[in-house]
Amino acid sequence: MRIPLIAANWKMHMTTAETREYITEFLPLVEGVNDVEIVLAPPFTSLAVAAKFLKGSNVKLAAQNVFWEEKGAYTGEISPQMLKDVECSYVIIGHSERRQYFGETDETVNKKIGAAVATGLGVIFCIGETLEEREAGKTFDVLKKQLTGGLRDRKIDGLVIAYEPVWAIGTGKTATPEQAQEAHEFIRNELRSLYGDVSESIRILYGGSVKPENIATLMAQRDVDGGLVGGASLKPDSFSRIVKFKETQGG
Ligand code: PGA
Repeated sequence: MRIPLIAANWKMHMTTAETREYITEFLPLVEGVNDVEIVLAPPFTSLAVAAKFLKGSNVKLAAQNVFWEEKGAYTGEISPQMLKDVECSYVIIGHSERRQYFGETDETVNKKIGAAVATGLGVIFCIGETLEEREAGKTFDVLKKQLTGGLRDRKIDGLVIAYEPVWAIGTGKTATPEQAQEAHEFIRNELRSLYGDVSESIRILYGGSVKPENIATLMAQRDVDGGLVGGASLKPDSFSRIVKFKETQGG
């Protein structure tokens, strides 16, 4: 049984005051939801305040990035231990925006996954093809390369995969439920060939223009185990409706 996981990726949004306001409004909306794992990923500067306000709740905390060294002369970087220190349960690694704007590669992603897992952080490992790659019929090749490169020699304790087609991120264009299922099934089969039957327990989230209106049909797919939500997670009401997809059924 894979427990659905729905995560809010706030990206570069929310001051500390906005974070506090959001959480104050959000927690009552999701009170009593315990059949879905709920995760918020604020920017680094809001992690400590988020940890304080989420304490004792059913909502977990994630960071959006991490460096692989424990400490040292790495100006501007944050270590896995520092994320544990502010009570993060998860960290997002390899988001396409980091690959596109900050030069992340399968190799750096691989190092980050290693360090995060070794520190006991859950990893939300993002992969996905661009529109150009999809149109050239290379989707599966790209997913396989990102998966094998990112996971080389890695343990997969606490691993969550997020399939995020780059053409669906922030564009309002969601993958159809069939396109999502096809990619998720491919990913699960690849995980099976790398790690065996444990692949059945790994959650594969869909990301890319998830909204309250489309989450239920995505979640109805066999290999879709949750969502990574950007834009529609920035308002407590909208994100809570996504989290409660079983009740709202697209409403
Ligand atoms: P979006 O972003 O929901 O705004 O498309 C998703 C993501 O990048 O994680």
